[in-house]
Amino acid sequence: MSVSRGPTPNLSHLSAYPDKTEKKSLSQLASELVAKSDQLSAALEQNAASELERIKVEQQLRAANEQLDLKIQERTSELTLANELLHAEIQRRVQTEEMLRKLSARILTLQDEERRRLGRELHDSAGQLLAALHINLGVIAQQTQGDPCLSAKVADSAALADQVISEIRTLSYLLHPPMLDETGLAGALEWYARGFSDRSKISVKLDIDPALPRFPTEVETTIFRIVQESLVNIHRHSGSRTAFLSLRSDSDGAVLTIRDEGCGIPSEVLKSVEDGGANIGVGIGGMRERARQLRGSISIRSANPGTLVEVNLPVLRSAASATAVAARRKAAR
Ligand SMILES: Nc1ncnc2c1ncn2[C@@H]1O[C@H](COP(=O)(O)OP(=O)(O)OP(=O)(O)O)[C@@H](O)[C@H]1O
Ligand SMILES: [Mg+2]
Repeated sequence: MSVSRGPTPNLSHLSAYPDKTEKKSLSQLASELVAKSDQLSAALEQNAASELERIKVEQQLRAANEQLDLKIQERTSELTLANELLHAEIQRRVQTEEMLRKLSARILTLQDEERRRLGRELHDSAGQLLAALHINLGVIAQQTQGDPCLSAKVADSAALADQVISEIRTLSYLLHPPMLDETGLAGALEWYARGFSDRSKISVKLDIDPALPRFPTEVETTIFRIVQESLVNIHRHSGSRTAFLSLRSDSDGAVLTIRDEGCGIPSEVLKSVEDGGANIGVGIGGMRERARQLRGSISIRSANPGTLVEVNLPVLRSAASATAVAARRKAAR
């Protein structure tokens, strides 16, 4: 039996699979894929390495951070300690300053009391003895009238005794002017300025409020002492031939100014007055302390020409009127 195969198909148009070009591009693709895969694994490796690196850096950063924290804590506790020490030191200095302030206030009060006591002693003991001596000399003068030589000596002695009596009285008044208690500040200042002018030949022009009320004793004593020191300073340091003193009362209390037309106060002294430096003496230091004690203020500045001292002392109205009543009662007795 024969098998018919039929017609053979024509496959000449088909090319072998894969054809040459395709084969070429496939192998190119394969090698590209291999290269990409290599690149990928290299990138993965690199990534892993940088991840490791990142973790390492992170750890280092954390350690550095911890160290920094520790340092900050140490520094903070050091600073806290230093701050506490500084605070304690400031406290100590404030206390010392307060103690010094109280001490100088006490010294000024004691000085005033001592001056008052000395003034009274001088007036009552030496003054009285000299007065007795003067009386005796008067008696002797009468009995020696017949002897011109002896009589001249007695007259000379009486004149000397007069001089000593007058000097002792001045000294005793300067130590504590009695009129400060009795007639008040204006009278005491006028008396002091007159004596000062006579001795120093510096003309003092007074401008005192005629309606000046009586102030409390400590205010009047302070004003008197500041005037004394300022006028003595004008005499000793300024070379001025004139001094101007003004005293008024305003709604807050007493306002005192003393001005000269002299050489002016040295700038280093002015600086010391402001910052408490070493260029001021007991005089200005005492004036400042007296004003501060009464919660007042003192300013010393150049007046061009000369120097101006201005003092403001607060006085409660009730204190001023109580003083006036007390003074009137005392004067009436
Ligand atoms: N009116 C003035 N004109 C020029 N200089 C002045 C005047 N008042 C004070 N001074 C200067 O200020 C300085 C300090 O005065 P302060 O009264 O404190 O001391 P002092 O007069 O020298 O001595 P003391 O302690 O005896 O008063 C003076 O030495 C002087 O140089
Ligand atoms: Mg002085």
